[in-house]
Order: sequence, then C-alpha cells, then structure tokens
Amino acid sequence: MEMEQEFKLDGIVPWGRRLWEYRAFFALEEADLRGAVLDVGSGPSSFAAEASAAGAQVTATDPLYALPGETIAQRFEETRGAMMEGLRQARHRFRWSQYGSPEAIETIRREALALFLADYERAGARHYVEASLPKLPFAEGAFRLALSSHLLFLYGDDLDFAFHIEALHELLRVAGEVRVFPLINLDGRPSSHLPGVLAHFAREGMQAELVPVPYEFQRGATKMLRLRR
Ligand SMILES: C[S@@+](CC[C@H](N)C(=O)[O-])C[C@H]1O[C@@H](n2cnc3c(N)ncnc32)[C@H](O)[C@@H]1O
Repeated sequence: MEMEQEFKLDGIVPWGRRLWEYRAFFALEEADLRGAVLDVGSGPSSFAAEASAAGAQVTATDPLYALPGETIAQRFEETRGAMMEGLRQARHRFRWSQYGSPEAIETIRREALALFLADYERAGARHYVEASLPKLPFAEGAFRLALSSHLLFLYGDDLDFAFHIEALHELLRVAGEVRVFPLINLDGRPSSHLPGVLAHFAREGMQAELVPVPYEFQRGATKMLRLRR
C-alpha cells in the first residue's frame, strides 16, 4: 500500500495527548511551565487539565471549543475507526517501543479525553478559549510560551505554506517563544513547508532552530521547531 493512502482521515482529527507526552514533544522543563502558556489546537488533549492541576497557567485554544463536551467526545468516537485503521496499516512507520500497540495508544487517548472533558466542564473559559489560527484573540506578548502539537506541519496537506507563515507570526505576536512538534507530515515524510519556514523567520531576524526532543513515535520525528523573537 502507498504511504499516502495509509492514513485516510477526513480533516484534522480530535485526538488528544497527555501531559507526559507534551513534556517529551517539547522537551519541557519545570521552568518552561512557570509563565503563562498557550496550547494552540489543543483539542481533547489533557495537557491544560493536567498542567493546571500541577500549578501551571495554561490557556488551551481550539475551534472545537465552540462545542459542548459531549459533542467533542462524539467527534472522537466518529474518527476513532479511521485513526486505529491508519495506525495498523502504517505500523511500520512508527516506533512502538514506548506505546506497544495501537490499542495501548487508544487507551491513552481515552485517558486524555476523560481528563479533558472533566476539566472542560469544571474550568470552562478559564482554561478553554474557542479560537482558530491564523488569528488569535489575545494581546501581544500575553504568553511566555506557545505550543503547537500535531497540527502545524503534520497537516501540511490541509494547511498550506502561507497559512504556516501567518499562523507562526501570530503565535510570535502573542508569545515570546513558540515550539512546534512534530515537523513531519501525516504521510511520514519531512514537511515540505519546513525549509521555507526556517528561511523566512531567519530573514525576519527571529531565532529559528530545530531542537532534538526525547521522543520518537513517527519514525524520524525527533526534533521540534523553536522560534523566538
Ligand atoms: C490532532 S489534534 C491535536 C490535539 C493536541 N494538540 C494534541 O496534540 O493532543 C489537532 C487539533 O487542531 C485543531 N485545529 C484545526 N484547525 C485549527 C486552526 N485553524 N486553529 C487552531 N486549531 C485548529 C483541531 O480542532 C484539533 O483539535
């Protein structure tokens, strides 16, 4: 089977990750979570719930937050079949040493969803703000750090180069530092947008660097993008 056909997802899926995974994706140290943190495209991730419970100041944003929790849970169920099928078909493109199996991943995604739903109900707008890149409803410099997990670059076929440039400029407007992971496409190839993005921000006089992270699931996805003003 062709690589491109293994993951047949209808758009960007609401599949969320846990705090320990975010720590690894972004090589987060305790100090990184001391200021205000923005998680963009956070979906049903439990990062905001778990990090807030540990004392961090996190705002999560996603267009999904226009919806009630039960509808988000329903969307998760609707996309579950395609996600699991994609993981099974494309098994060879992942390193399984950490997760073990597609079924173990589903268990972790369900844990994240449950933690997210409880916090979404409890904290509401204190933690969750409906917003869509490339425009965000926050003041300049409102956050010390902005994180984008499994949205930019990964969905590079849905989101074009111009969108990436505009979205990353917007993230750098609201945060002093931006971290993005992963940097490869859903089809397992390095994002074709990345070289142009690095060149663009270097030309703009920003610090744009690729930083190794202590995580690898999609084979070859071992670095995050770090941008600083
Ligand atoms: C694959 S999920 C990743 C969720 C979370 N960041 C994680 O890694 O667990 C991608 C999320 O991006 C959201 N999304 C799609 N388009 C977006 C946009 N233009 N701006 C912000 N978020 C968007 C989707 O609703 C979805 O929840």
